[in-house]
Amino acid sequence: MRELKVDLADRSYPIYIGDQLLAQPELLTRHIRGKQVCIVTNETVAPLYLAQVKAGLSDYQVAEVVLPDGEAHKTLDVLARIYDGLLEARHNRTTTVIALGGGVVGDMAGFAAATYQRGVDFIQVPTTLLSMVDSSVGGKTGVNHPLGKNMIGAFYQPRCVIADTGVLASLPPRELSAGIAEVVKYGLISDRPFFEWLEANMDGLLAGERELMAYAIERSCQNKADVVAQDEREGGIRAILNLGHTFGHAIETAQGYGNWLHGEAVAAGMVMAADLSHRRGAISAEDLKRTRVLLERASLPVKAPADMTPGQFIDLMGVDKKVLDGRLRLVLLAAVGEAIVTSDIEPQLLQETFAACSA
Ligand code: NAD
Ligand code: GLY
Repeated sequence: MRELKVDLADRSYPIYIGDQLLAQPELLTRHIRGKQVCIVTNETVAPLYLAQVKAGLSDYQVAEVVLPDGEAHKTLDVLARIYDGLLEARHNRTTTVIALGGGVVGDMAGFAAATYQRGVDFIQVPTTLLSMVDSSVGGKTGVNHPLGKNMIGAFYQPRCVIADTGVLASLPPRELSAGIAEVVKYGLISDRPFFEWLEANMDGLLAGERELMAYAIERSCQNKADVVAQDEREGGIRAILNLGHTFGHAIETAQGYGNWLHGEAVAAGMVMAADLSHRRGAISAEDLKRTRVLLERASLPVKAPADMTPGQFIDLMGVDKKVLDGRLRLVLLAAVGEAIVTSDIEPQLLQETFAACSA
């Protein structure tokens, strides 16, 4: 088992990564302080892993909340079911909420934990690659609003993250690819040697080689933990974790939540960010091509949907959280392995990127 630490003073916590960790309930129980536990999962993950997690918690008063599956259900209405479950089972402030699922479950369960009785303990048990390398780490929690993704939420750190690589065996290949988009992101924003490692090992990762996968998760989480430790609440450098996300959120919103997977939209968005970076003279044509090819090898989209116009992009990017003082701010690349955040964006070059990156 690999173990990392997210270093946040009194809110520091470990990330455990390894095969068959769900069979080691003490990893969970050492972080549970009371006698009550509420497992939040969804209707797809529950039949696969809920019984195994519950089996390790026989000494606790366990409630379970099974949510409908999908990004379309990441809403305030569906969130209320978690509060209903906690209240119906009479859970008090010593309860621990366990998120068992992908990023949708993790973000919702985390926000419920942040707000139930003004905050209760919370543990992340991510079951998708995307949630293992990104959403379970760093404390962003929340739900969507019809006018914008993740617009209602809170920063709230878990007490630990347990990433069992064994559960990735049941993950549909399209979801695995979506997670790889976020893995590639870390190479692009802060770790060129990791980008090159991914070029060398992409085929093994896609074939599900567990040691390679554990290494990729560890390296991704280490990159994320380093950024979060410097800037927990995104006052500055944490914004680099959003490479490709401003373009990607526009794609997700235009297509309707859940039609393009988050990681797919981020992949196309990262190519757009890399394309714009190249047009500004920051990265070479060769590095732009390598970025596109690496994502393509993971069966990820590298172009925006054909039916999206530049005007639609600009409108939708305008509601993004990263807009400051009415100016568009984007994460771009100074190099492969080094991201910058800038609001100094040449409109003409942005238009050229829209034209070049449309399917
Ligand atoms: P998801 O939670 O929708 O999971 C993808 C699909 O895989 C779902 O159908 C799910 O039921 C299924 N699934 C989960 N684990 C499985 C398993 N082991 N076997 C079989 N099926 C399984 O999507 P996701 O990609 O994990 O997360 C996307 C969400 O994460 C978005 O809402 C995004 O906004 C959020 N996110 C949050 C952060 C953050 O920092 N909080 C970061 C990135 C993304
Ligand atoms: N996924 C972006 C962040 O955690 O800040």
